[in-house]
Amino acid sequence: MISSKLPNVGTTIFTTMSQLAAQTGALNLSQGFPDFNGPQALLDAVGRHVSAGHNQYSPMTGLPALRQQVANKIARSYGVSVDAEHEVTITPGATEAIFCAIHAVIRTGDEVIVFDPSYDSYEPSVELAGGRCVHVQLTDGEFAIDWQKLTDALSPRTRMIILNSPHNPSGALISRDDLDKLALLIAERDIYLISDEVYEHLVFDGVQHASVLAHEALYPRAFVVSSFGKTYHVTGWKTGYVVAPPALSAELRKVHQYVNFCGVTPLQWALADFMAAHPEHVEELPAFYQAKRDLFCELLTSSRFQFKPTPGTYFQLVDYSQIRPDLNDVDMSLWLTREHGVATIPVSVFYQQPIPEQRLVRLCFAKREETLRQAAEKLCAI
Ligand SMILES: Cc1ncc(COP(=O)(O)O)c(C=O)c1O
Repeated sequence: MISSKLPNVGTTIFTTMSQLAAQTGALNLSQGFPDFNGPQALLDAVGRHVSAGHNQYSPMTGLPALRQQVANKIARSYGVSVDAEHEVTITPGATEAIFCAIHAVIRTGDEVIVFDPSYDSYEPSVELAGGRCVHVQLTDGEFAIDWQKLTDALSPRTRMIILNSPHNPSGALISRDDLDKLALLIAERDIYLISDEVYEHLVFDGVQHASVLAHEALYPRAFVVSSFGKTYHVTGWKTGYVVAPPALSAELRKVHQYVNFCGVTPLQWALADFMAAHPEHVEELPAFYQAKRDLFCELLTSSRFQFKPTPGTYFQLVDYSQIRPDLNDVDMSLWLTREHGVATIPVSVFYQQPIPEQRLVRLCFAKREETLRQAAEKLCAI
């Protein structure tokens, strides 16, 4: 028998719920992906580049034209200048970027602080690198950083902290003030950051995303990760990028070179073309998703679920304690899928130590209006 290096990892809840949704014919509001297509001009560009013969390996660091478009977008969005050649690396998905950043830095015995609830790829990547995750719970309800808990979790072995804003699954945002506090807290320590900003353009109500890219004290020690999949409605393209200062990028590229070497070439060409021709796509994204959030929340007001409209991401948490307080959230998700035809994600799976009394499930509203209306009708009938 093989002795597993990841004994605690099984099939993820995302796979389980999507499979159950398919088997039962439930509306799939579980896994985070749109049920609509990306922009037609972007899709057309792929075909064009495939036909034009852009089908061989791209440079290891990513297509220069796409790295330049990323740098241009960062300058427009955050008013900071990054060097496309030495600071931007294109990766096959944000997931690979996170894996490579962890492996570039973490050695046996190092500790990595993650905030629970946290995205599921962080911990296995840390463990494979020989490190150990130290879980710090975000505050109950607001999902904000508990500064006392974070301070208590720091040790001489802490080598990395992983931030995620806008936050999956809660949608909570880290503010500029939070970043300032963090910078002060770790100023004298040898700690790196991953800032997982894959939902950077999904921030609502006129709030500006506080990117680590624009933080003078934090960026020098950070790997800032984003995903074209989220921003351009093409999650299956698994194309992302990481921005880090030149010395950090150089180390990350050493790992990336042997994990995957390069991203998919025609997709990179298509993204570069589209970003050059349609810089407004990114500016229009908050309003695009805010309209979906507002519609969905409006439709759910007559349900027995309780919620506050999410400030970011395309996820809405809802509290079901007025409906089935007797069920834990995994059983609630199964019940909702099987009995009511809507697949959701239980929030407890994002915790090392779930909060027993929490009664929250996550709904993805990156869906067509018709899907949102059908889902809301089912949820309101419960
Ligand atoms: C917080 C977070 N980070 C990273 C990723 C992975 O992004 P990608 O599909 O580009 O690998 C996701 C995808 O759901 C996510 O929610």
